Amino acid sequence: MHLRKRIMVTGGAGFLGSHLCEKLLNRGDDVLCVDNFFTGTKDNILHLMKNPHFEVMRHDVTFPLYVEVDEIYNLACPASPIHYQHDPVQTTKTAVHGAINMLGLAKRVGAKILQASTSEVYGDPEVHPQPESYRGNVNPIGPRACYDEGKRCAETLFFDYHRQSNLRIRVARIFNTYGPRMHPNDGRVVSNFIVQALKGEPITLYGDGTQTRSFCYVDDLIEGLVRLMDAKDSVTGPVNLGNPGEFTIRELAETVVRLVGRKGKKPAFKKKPLPADDPLQRCPDIRLAKKVLEWAPKVRLEEGLKKTIPYFRDIVARG
Ligand SMILES: NC(=O)c1ccc[n+]([C@@H]2O[C@H](COP(=O)([O-])OP(=O)(O)OC[C@H]3O[C@@H](n4cnc5c(N)ncnc54)[C@H](O)[C@@H]3O)[C@@H](O)[C@H]2O)c1
Repeated sequence: MHLRKRIMVTGGAGFLGSHLCEKLLNRGDDVLCVDNFFTGTKDNILHLMKNPHFEVMRHDVTFPLYVEVDEIYNLACPASPIHYQHDPVQTTKTAVHGAINMLGLAKRVGAKILQASTSEVYGDPEVHPQPESYRGNVNPIGPRACYDEGKRCAETLFFDYHRQSNLRIRVARIFNTYGPRMHPNDGRVVSNFIVQALKGEPITLYGDGTQTRSFCYVDDLIEGLVRLMDAKDSVTGPVNLGNPGEFTIRELAETVVRLVGRKGKKPAFKKKPLPADDPLQRCPDIRLAKKVLEWAPKVRLEEGLKKTIPYFRDIVARG
């Protein structure tokens, strides 16, 4: 029998957070979604509002919060460069002050706490694929630093709270994830390509399109997060969660164009220079997750794109 837990999800109205809230409710937990709606929307959680075990609180995690909960998933943070570079100081505050506030809360109420960290802690990696032991190659003063260094500092805080106060922590390093409820205009490659293909516009390729990325479907990622939270306390992480299948950006563009179906037309590409500090390759080493969580992604890229395209088709149709 599953005992109902009180679980707080910060950033619960965002892309990943809304899927996580849904999964926890479906399994029978009480879920408190905390969000300041910076990049998240009520639309993402509208379908959960009728559930009496779901509660929403508008709150900015850079300010302290006092609630009784058993577990905290700390996802609050803008995740795409367009959003996190909009107000870089606020991004660092969200990552760092947000972590301090949520860790302080976890300590007070004895809750278990999971941090949504990121592959960006590896920066522009010199090691492929990246294992958790790789310490990264991050530019501390570049335009991505507010996010990368903010997330690195949050990891530091998690481990210091663990060592200093015996807090039960989990740190997941999330790699590129996609699926329904992604932002249509956040400049991320999957959403960009799908929206451009649906509108029949040329696909923007940064650089020559030979840089590679790995793409994890949202259902796989959420399963990994929940398994990590439910793992025994000695499994603190950091644990990489992502899909190790590597594709060039050009391959992704061609697959999207084929699935969206621009019949008879050749994919037209519009080239732009690579943005500063954009990594050329990034791919997770997921041996640790396989070992300690018995987790591996199941959804192939093409299958995941087929589940994602209808969501964007609706948005584009609505204008
Ligand atoms: N999606 C990915 O590929 C990916 C990859 C690596 C890490 N992550 C991490 O996962 C988490 C969720 O990412 P996502 O893709 O769902 O992004 P998202 O932007 O959809 O979700 C982030 C949520 O946090 C909320 N938020 C932002 N600042 C806040 C604040 N100060 N107080 C309260 N809420 C705040 C936003 O409104 C939004 O609902 C983030 O921490 C991100 O860094 C995501």
